[in-house]
Amino acid sequence: PVGAQEFVPARARSLDQLKAAAAGCRGCELFADATQVVFGRGAAHARLVLVGEQPGDVEDRKGLPFVGPAGRLLRGAVDDAGIDPSIIFLTNAVKHFRFEVRGKRRIHQTPDRVHIEACRPWLVAEFAQLKPELIVALGATAAKALFGPAFRVTRSRGRLLPWPASAQRPEDFPVAEIQALATIHPSAVLRADDQDAAYAGLVTDLKIAADALA
Ligand code: URA
Ligand code: SF4
Repeated sequence: PVGAQEFVPARARSLDQLKAAAAGCRGCELFADATQVVFGRGAAHARLVLVGEQPGDVEDRKGLPFVGPAGRLLRGAVDDAGIDPSIIFLTNAVKHFRFEVRGKRRIHQTPDRVHIEACRPWLVAEFAQLKPELIVALGATAAKALFGPAFRVTRSRGRLLPWPASAQRPEDFPVAEIQALATIHPSAVLRADDQDAAYAGLVTDLKIAADALA
């Protein structure tokens, strides 16, 4: 894929401008089968950005991030962590839904490394507009988008880390270094054998985020 960079307005002045441009992105093949691009949504001066994987089936139809079952669980966890939802911007590492058709159903497919890399310029452009204090990566895809392909959520979750990491193209984020933290994806809670324990772990990590913003 050519990547999103050439579709990102060079001197974007607003999130709305980015969102409008993202509708025309052809940076990878995922635009072709998806219903529409799903751009981030939330406070224009968000202190906290939550980054998911990619839109799901419901998000693809509605054009908004985290409006399906994972979103409902996430809102509950944010609330249980004591985070004010008005300071949050919600987005995804990959902005078109990747799926496989089986009969009448569209089955979620995890984005590949090429999709994460192709779509990363949109994520960085969102951060550059928002200038948040903290970014939370929800699950492996978002964590790899932030920290590179070798990052392992299981090993490094719940830890405040500098972003961008010094080894990692700091030139693509022209404002001061911010903090980031990785945790599990809300969908992983829904799939877990022990959902209560998985949920508690997500809330514990989000409380670390809450404390960092206090
Ligand atoms: N899962 C995600 O990662 N993002 C969404 O927007 C919805 C579900
Ligand atoms: Fe562009 Fe990202 Fe959609 Fe690929 S997934 S077409 S890079 S917006």
